Amino acid sequence: MNLKQIAGERAVEFVEEGMVVGLGTGSTAYYAIKKLGELVRLGLKISGVCTSEQTRKQALEWEIPLVDLGDVECIDLTIDGADEVDPHGHGIKGGGGALLFEKIVALNSRQNIWVIEKRKLVQQLGAFPLPVEIMSFGHQNLVKRMAGKNWNPALRMNGSDVYMTDGQHYIVDLGLRSITDPVKLDLELKQIPGVLDHGLFLNTVNKVIVAGTDKVEIITFR
Ligand code: A5P
Repeated sequence: MNLKQIAGERAVEFVEEGMVVGLGTGSTAYYAIKKLGELVRLGLKISGVCTSEQTRKQALEWEIPLVDLGDVECIDLTIDGADEVDPHGHGIKGGGGALLFEKIVALNSRQNIWVIEKRKLVQQLGAFPLPVEIMSFGHQNLVKRMAGKNWNPALRMNGSDVYMTDGQHYIVDLGLRSITDPVKLDLELKQIPGVLDHGLFLNTVNKVIVAGTDKVEIITFR
């Protein structure tokens, strides 16, 4: 079993009968969804809220009953991946391009669990390029503005096309190298017209399941 699978499957142990479960996106969340699908086939009754089209396809293949976010009062537990996690439990997400829906789902969840490989635990965020979801309208100017701030923006591409999110927006990956003040950057980014959201998830996660080569560690943050 690879580390992503170990972390993903461990998170499913927190799922209880009758829960509404947020289904994250990415190659680690994939294993959590697969395990949930296996349990659903064995009779577990849950319903899922998807964070992306990719996840919706996988959940439908496993016949996991799905509900729309707007049709539930609250999600009991969301299981998602992350790209980096710091000692405060702040994280970077969105490497897989689903950050906006992931953030909305996380906000509507009583509990958020992230599943990661140990190499993603960092002292300071920022070595992983920070994904920022932006409007396509006027994006060229926005990218120039970000370059002017020395944020090293790179418009995400999908082959020769601009990468398009499920919400029909673009993503700019910021090569910041290190983020000394994530709270300040969060505010600064949100004040820029055209920025819809970004991959800094601050004070969001409750538990992080960390799979290392020798053991699985569960870090509880809140
Ligand atoms: C998707 O947009 C992301 O937030 C993923 O959860 C994150 O990039 C981790 O992905 P992997 O589990 O594939 O590394």
